[in-house]
Amino acid sequence: MDTLTPLTPKQIVAQLDNYIIGQTDAKKAVAIALYNRYRRMQVPEKLQQEITPKNLMMIGPTGVGKTEIARRLAKIVNAPFVKVEATKFTEVGYVGRDVESMVRDLVSMAVSMVEKDKFDEIRPEVRRDVDKKLVKLLAPGVKKEQKQNNNDFMSMLNNMQNGQNLGSIFNNNNDTVDSDPDSNAEVTDEIRNRRLSVKEQLDKGLLEDEEVTIKVEESKKVGPMDDQMGQMGLDMSGMMDSLMPKKTITRTLPVKEARELLIQQESDKRVDHDEIYQRAIELTQNKGIIFIDEFDKIAAGDKKNSGEVSREGVQRDILPIVEGSRINTKYGPVDTDHILFIASGAFAESKPSDLIAELQGRFPIRVELNDLTEEDFIQILTKPDNALTKQYVALTRADGIHLTFTKESVEEIAKVAFELNNSNQNIGARRLSTVLEKILADILYEGPDMQMGDITITREYVHEQVGKIAADQDLSRYIL
Ligand SMILES: Nc1ncnc2c1ncn2[C@@H]1O[C@H](COP(=O)(O)OP(=O)(O)O)[C@@H](O)[C@H]1O
Ligand SMILES: [Mg+2]
Repeated sequence: MDTLTPLTPKQIVAQLDNYIIGQTDAKKAVAIALYNRYRRMQVPEKLQQEITPKNLMMIGPTGVGKTEIARRLAKIVNAPFVKVEATKFTEVGYVGRDVESMVRDLVSMAVSMVEKDKFDEIRPEVRRDVDKKLVKLLAPGVKKEQKQNNNDFMSMLNNMQNGQNLGSIFNNNNDTVDSDPDSNAEVTDEIRNRRLSVKEQLDKGLLEDEEVTIKVEESKKVGPMDDQMGQMGLDMSGMMDSLMPKKTITRTLPVKEARELLIQQESDKRVDHDEIYQRAIELTQNKGIIFIDEFDKIAAGDKKNSGEVSREGVQRDILPIVEGSRINTKYGPVDTDHILFIASGAFAESKPSDLIAELQGRFPIRVELNDLTEEDFIQILTKPDNALTKQYVALTRADGIHLTFTKESVEEIAKVAFELNNSNQNIGARRLSTVLEKILADILYEGPDMQMGDITITREYVHEQVGKIAADQDLSRYIL
């Protein structure tokens, strides 16, 4: 993944265009900041160290796409990315998440990325071996004990006298990840032949729904202590894992699910975890991106506010991370000097200048997002791949309804939403959801019980459903 040429700024914007209407300046600024990471990696190493990222602050009213940009970004950048909310953090020493957890989350993200890459790389060979095992499970050999003696109790006594331990007597299921299903069984010529045909069928994908019983290691549970221990650079669950015997559970599953589980476990055994952690840390340091949402909420703002002291505390805690410092994680120490930070906030009650000066200085690039227009609303309703109208069309399909929106109805919805934003509180595109939900309420309620067939939403229908409410200011304040 390091060698891949990344998307160019134009390509990044083109991708974002599929989901975010307007806000060109913000999209461009974000795209440039991302591409600069790649540029930096191309300069001589000595100089690389000198080039720190120009962090970015997105400022704009509520509901115009700030968080949406972050969400989409996460999917298109081929780099560790986490989005955190500044309001979730508390000053060191108080109960709550400490700011360093954002770096730990970022490394965890990087670890899963590198791990996935590595797993994908070895998948063909692992799959081959797992399929071999599946063949043996589907056409098992004849159990040796059963051949010797049909009386279980007698065979047990016999075995005990022969010095076998109890475990291997009771445990006939030799299908743990490591062990060979044949180790305690006899494979006759007949079985060998059967396996040939089973293998053929398996390769053709004909046995995917056959059930097999496998033993799998119980999945790791992440304890609440993990985060705390990570702070000290300790891998708590890792330590517990190596101290305690692996717990295995027996599960009966269709072949296709069993295969995935076995591949997962087998891959986990074959990779070099230290190497993965090392690469993940490098990736985090050079390419990591942390998006801090609701950044304005930690600005002091209104001096009357009593939460102010601790907000400034959070800023002071964040500062060293943004300036560059070394954070302990359970995978090893991480230097934050070259991590890219994108902060975002409405700054309605506070201004960026209310942040402590040092922090302001660390976010030199500022982009403003614009208020959305009525025309933007029309686009938002219809254009993105996940546009609201498309979502409702797909949802009502479940009730056998073919929903369509006329062009005029969409214009009407946009108009109603826009006017409501003006007359009541401006909540941006979020208004579209409340209006649309209201318009479709009857259909969503009656849908499953009636054969509605084709339904066309017209301008008149929109008006009928929300016209009265929208016209009544007091009413609309609560309902739309
Ligand atoms: N410019 C836009 N293009 C497409 N959808 C948008 C846009 N702005 C807002 N939305 C939609 O409105 C909702 C709220 O937007 P969000 O990005 O969370 O707002 P905020 O700017 O307050 O972070 C999201 O569901 C998003 O899909
Ligand atoms: Mg937001």
